[in-house]
Amino acid sequence: MPVVGFHQARRPRQTTGDRMRRELSWPRPGGIIISVVGAALVFGGSLTISPSADSGTSVSSAPAPSPNMRPAASQAPTLSSATPTELGTQVPTSAPATLSASGLSASPLAPATTAPAPAIAGATADSPIQKLFAAATVTPTEKALRDITNPNSPLVLVNKQRPLVPANYSPSDLVAPKILSGSGEPVLLRAEAATAAERMFAAAAAQGFTITVKSSYRSYETQVSVYNGYVAGKGEAAADSTSARPGFSEHQSGLALDIGDADAGTACDFNSCFEDAPAAQWVATHGSEFGFLVRYQSGDESITGYLAEPWHLRYVGTGVAQDMQALGISSYEKYLGVPDAPGYK
Ligand code: DAL
Ligand code: ZN
Repeated sequence: MPVVGFHQARRPRQTTGDRMRRELSWPRPGGIIISVVGAALVFGGSLTISPSADSGTSVSSAPAPSPNMRPAASQAPTLSSATPTELGTQVPTSAPATLSASGLSASPLAPATTAPAPAIAGATADSPIQKLFAAATVTPTEKALRDITNPNSPLVLVNKQRPLVPANYSPSDLVAPKILSGSGEPVLLRAEAATAAERMFAAAAAQGFTITVKSSYRSYETQVSVYNGYVAGKGEAAADSTSARPGFSEHQSGLALDIGDADAGTACDFNSCFEDAPAAQWVATHGSEFGFLVRYQSGDESITGYLAEPWHLRYVGTGVAQDMQALGISSYEKYLGVPDAPGYK
């Protein structure tokens, strides 16, 4: 029976938000949005792997990580040749374009005739994420991906109110990142998230933290198995506090992974005590530098609908992740300005 995410007794609200809060500067220029045709967005890698089979997830039977799979700090990730183009990093360093660029002179007193379209489709107009992206120069492809309802966007919002559409969505650019596995199941992530994970795991290893991956991409069918296992073991209400229903899991997006700590053992895997593991504390502080959020934090249960999961990381890109950390916003819902999602419709 799948037992991913089993929780023991609840712990007091952790101070991850405070711990994460650091003085980070992030440019947030104002201005108009211009479209630049030409520079194509690279969102994906060259290596595409389609999972041949979905494995069920059973932590209790997971083998100990092999030392042979430990990533050397000096080992260059093989998937990192493509320049990462996390949407959040594409904030222009130059001044925004003005109407005068067209050669026409516009009166500074002329009233605006149309309001600019939101930079991020689906997010509330005055939400923090709009400010982050407000003046970014985007290609048409990038613009299409700036939609939190688009399952192909690294910004996609997935929660109990926002299933993936279609419900059986499967990413087309899954790859196998070279990161240390702590389970017997295949490690698959979307290409951009995979590259970021390789960098994050290598950086952690270089600092003496041995992160392992316990679960990564899960297909709709795998999530059926995982969720049904919880329901069978704990009942539906308890299952819903720890496991997403099929079609509602970030794991199905290919942008989420669950981590363990090889040095701390497996006793706290998928358990609230994992928050005290060195690897958990490292990712809470440094994950944003690689574009990852600790998605389900203590104190946000009424927003996310899940008990805290200090092991569940979600890739959103460095721009968003670092902006959320700088602002001290722990839930993606609040950052997007969307309604809380404590339960299903
Ligand atoms: N444990 C998280 C909520 C999932 O199943 O996606
Ligand atoms: Zn997870």
